[in-house]
Amino acid sequence: MTPIESIQRAADFIAPHGNGARIALVLGSGLGHFTERMRIHCRIPYRDIPGFPVSTVAGHAGEILFGTVGSTAVMAMSGRFHYYEGYDMSTITLPVRVMQRIGIEKLILTNAAGGVNLDYRPGDLMLISDHINLSGANPLIGPNIGPGPRFPDLNSAWDRGMRETIRGAAEKLGISMREGVYLMMSGPSYETPAEIRMCRLLGADAVGMSTVPEAITAAQCGIRTAGISCITNMAAGILDQPITHKEVIEAG
Ligand code: HPA
Repeated sequence: MTPIESIQRAADFIAPHGNGARIALVLGSGLGHFTERMRIHCRIPYRDIPGFPVSTVAGHAGEILFGTVGSTAVMAMSGRFHYYEGYDMSTITLPVRVMQRIGIEKLILTNAAGGVNLDYRPGDLMLISDHINLSGANPLIGPNIGPGPRFPDLNSAWDRGMRETIRGAAEKLGISMREGVYLMMSGPSYETPAEIRMCRLLGADAVGMSTVPEAITAAQCGIRTAGISCITNMAAGILDQPITHKEVIEAG
């Protein structure tokens, strides 16, 4: 089966369960509780979707939910796939390609991230203004399966209008928001203090192991994208303490 056929097969399976959602959310490590705010219309475990991988990481539920938040129909992915799990980039980004085929127009990516900016604190939320891809790979390597161009522009990978809306909503709700650059490393080890000093020199405000592949793919597919990082810990070398996955999940 060609990659396009696999994407279409998963989309054909999911589409009849949909609720007309035009906006999708990807919930990062420890952030699956967001689904408690949804009126759920339908749940689809990843294992039931043909061609879909399963999430192997603790803190990631592994299902698609269709439902409403207020009066807005949304699709939520509770649990994502990571490069460090051994999946290739095309597998990690398959859900985004499926979203495009079932009519998703806007995507909100969330993640847990380490604070690189010394002004940040665990529990802070950071709206992603831009990214640096140090994962060592790009999800668009290989034949161009479209629908966008071979060499997509990433100037507006992080949609200005959506950022403004999110900033406005946060202000209205009294939620303080940082705004900064997210840098992706492959993981799964956390970084060394020297690597984090490098990230800071490069202009990163937060570091994590996800999100960038989905954002690049969404840009190629013409899906407008915003991202919010939950700063779950200070990155390596800032505090005199080890970083643990437990701490990341709890902070999330
Ligand atoms: N580094 C990389 N990924 C992360 C971190 C971190 O410190 N915290 C949560 N995800």
